[in-house]
Amino acid sequence: MKGTSDTRRQRSGAEHTGKVALVTGATGGIGEAVVYALAEAGTAVAAVDLDPADLAELERTAKDKGLSVTALPADVTSAAQVEDVVAGVEERLGPIEQLVNTAGVLRPAPVLSLTEEDWHQTFAVNTAGVFRVSTAVARRMAGRERGAVVTVASNAAVVPRVGMAAYSASKAAAVAFTKNLGLELAGHGVRCNVVCPGSTDTPMLRSLWTDESGPARSLNGVLSEFRGGIPLGRFATPRDIAHAVAFLLSDRAAHITMHDLHVDGGAALGR
Ligand SMILES: NC(=O)c1ccc[n+]([C@@H]2O[C@H](COP(=O)([O-])OP(=O)(O)OC[C@H]3O[C@@H](n4cnc5c(N)ncnc54)[C@H](O)[C@@H]3O)[C@@H](O)[C@H]2O)c1
Repeated sequence: MKGTSDTRRQRSGAEHTGKVALVTGATGGIGEAVVYALAEAGTAVAAVDLDPADLAELERTAKDKGLSVTALPADVTSAAQVEDVVAGVEERLGPIEQLVNTAGVLRPAPVLSLTEEDWHQTFAVNTAGVFRVSTAVARRMAGRERGAVVTVASNAAVVPRVGMAAYSASKAAAVAFTKNLGLELAGHGVRCNVVCPGSTDTPMLRSLWTDESGPARSLNGVLSEFRGGIPLGRFATPRDIAHAVAFLLSDRAAHITMHDLHVDGGAALGR
């Protein structure tokens, strides 16, 4: 029996050293923290995002610290670019064993002012992007009977928020998709989980703060918008989110799949 569980553990993710990971949204606040958390644990990280200059800077800074980070610009809304980048990573770095879907966009607007374009662009990145990258990578993982996927969604997937209908719906769909992927790939030794951050101190959160009251409103809640605050009394750091992602990718989470881990200081009240 011992041999069986060890084999399973080896197939479904293992510790980071010597592994190859692909991280989308790699130059964003949370994405960059994930890149560093994995690279510092010995993983060769393929960093994927839109802006080549930002990516080159990330690669340079990481390399100066002795970390293996390879910059690969790609737009997750393009099937051709996603396929090229995934094939390129496998050719240059080796088989991808860990995937983190971090790329995301937020276009806040009251639901009655939401445009078709807002809706489609939000879903193109937050939902179809997750589908596209996950299937391109998971197809390869399934063939090798080994791998772990984490999608960074949001606690807005389960708590309605004023001005965030498209975002919230796109994240709920990404959560459901990732869990379904996990179900279908469980027999192939591939685990698929979700991390749902709450308010995390990154450019995305700061873009919501239109005046000086912004941080206090996010922290304490806004009764007129039916919005609660953060029980733990602080914003998440990108590193808080990265720790949860790294855990779910690791062998310590070898028996966890289709799980949705909220890292939000209690903001969703345990949902
Ligand atoms: N910051 C928060 O409070 C918060 C809360 C909940 C969930 N999230 C989620 O966490 C993830 C990371 O967010 P963040 O706060 O670091 O935001 P961020 O804006 O700092 O980073 C998002 C990154 O995604 C990249 N991206 C956007 N569109 C892309 C595309 N088409 N192809 C490739 N890359 C693309 C951006 O260039 C950017 O680097 C997002 O999915 C976001 O929805 C963030």
